[in-house]
Amino acid sequence: MAAINGRPVGIRGVGIGIPSVMRTNADMEKIVDTTNEWIVERSGICSRYAVADDESNASLAVAAGLHALRDAGAEPDDLDMIMVGTNSPDTVVPGVGPRVQYLMGASKAGGMDIQAGCTGGLYGMAMAGGGIASEIWNNVLVIGSEVVSRLLDWKDRSTCVLFGDGAGALLLSPWQPGMMRLTDIDLRADGEFCDLISIPGGLAAEPASELTLRDRRHFVKMNGREVFKFVNRKIPPYLENFCSSCGITGQEVDWWIFHQANIRILEGVFRRLNVPIERAIINLDRFGNTSAASILMCLQEARADGRIKSGQKIIMTSFGAGMTYGAALIES
Ligand code: ACO
Repeated sequence: MAAINGRPVGIRGVGIGIPSVMRTNADMEKIVDTTNEWIVERSGICSRYAVADDESNASLAVAAGLHALRDAGAEPDDLDMIMVGTNSPDTVVPGVGPRVQYLMGASKAGGMDIQAGCTGGLYGMAMAGGGIASEIWNNVLVIGSEVVSRLLDWKDRSTCVLFGDGAGALLLSPWQPGMMRLTDIDLRADGEFCDLISIPGGLAAEPASELTLRDRRHFVKMNGREVFKFVNRKIPPYLENFCSSCGITGQEVDWWIFHQANIRILEGVFRRLNVPIERAIINLDRFGNTSAASILMCLQEARADGRIKSGQKIIMTSFGAGMTYGAALIES
């Protein structure tokens, strides 16, 4: 799949939700045996955010969602559906989406979660875009929201320094002149590699027990080296094929909004694509890996600070637990 047929789909507004606690690499040095130099050199991350006790996945999602509505000049009652891409829901049952619907006062909207690893924001864009193109819905709020800080193992230095909390949001609506337009989107999964990033314990496969608690299996586990190899092998040819299915070359893309996992991954992928890294929107130095929120937060910042200008082509692309991946083309 690639081209979105039917009613044209526009991005009417963008929003961001930033938690109140900022943690630098120096703060990480006080928690685990690590150094600022190691973190910067291996990942490019200098700081990340974490929610305070009175914040939650839903409160971040609401902040980002209301910001996107303000940006669009829309009201909560205009919404038909709220989709929250997340890997760190406040509770698995119920999901974050219905809480966000209630807290926003979106009286005519449905609410649901999308669990697709870090690609959850992109999966949401595809479903929302399909619903608008086929005229099921008019206004869909797609949110990526994460409070991964509460699911990280703060004794595991190989994961806890990499992730951060945050939320990003897009309001998708029928396209009108002046809006960014979502023209093509493609989603994939390679479930053979589903053990590379996981939270193995605490749910149906391994119900909570003394053993799962002892072995810290309720926390994020990641085989970083294998993820690194998977992405470098799979993603560059995938993106080349995606571009050609959209009728463009990688060099014709003005901005790449790539999942903010690690600067070395971005550098490797851009080298293979023969695209200068200056065309990448980057926020991982300040936010770390915000999982399903990362590309939505990047789009908000790049639109708000004027980097994205009218008449440009933007690729949004992500990968994550599953392993899921995908890409979208946007014309501004
Ligand atoms: N500080 C200091 N040393 C550390 C730290 C740390 N925070 N973490 C690990 N190390 C040590 C390891 O113990 C190891 O030591 P050893 O050689 O004595 O055993 C050494 O550093 C090297 O470890 P590696 O895992 O080989 O380090 P690598 O260079 O591969 O970098 C990293 C690790 C940053 C995780 C890298 O593999 C990576 O970025 N992988 C991709 C991760 C990713 O993209 N995750 C997101 C996926 S999708 C999603 O967003 C959910």
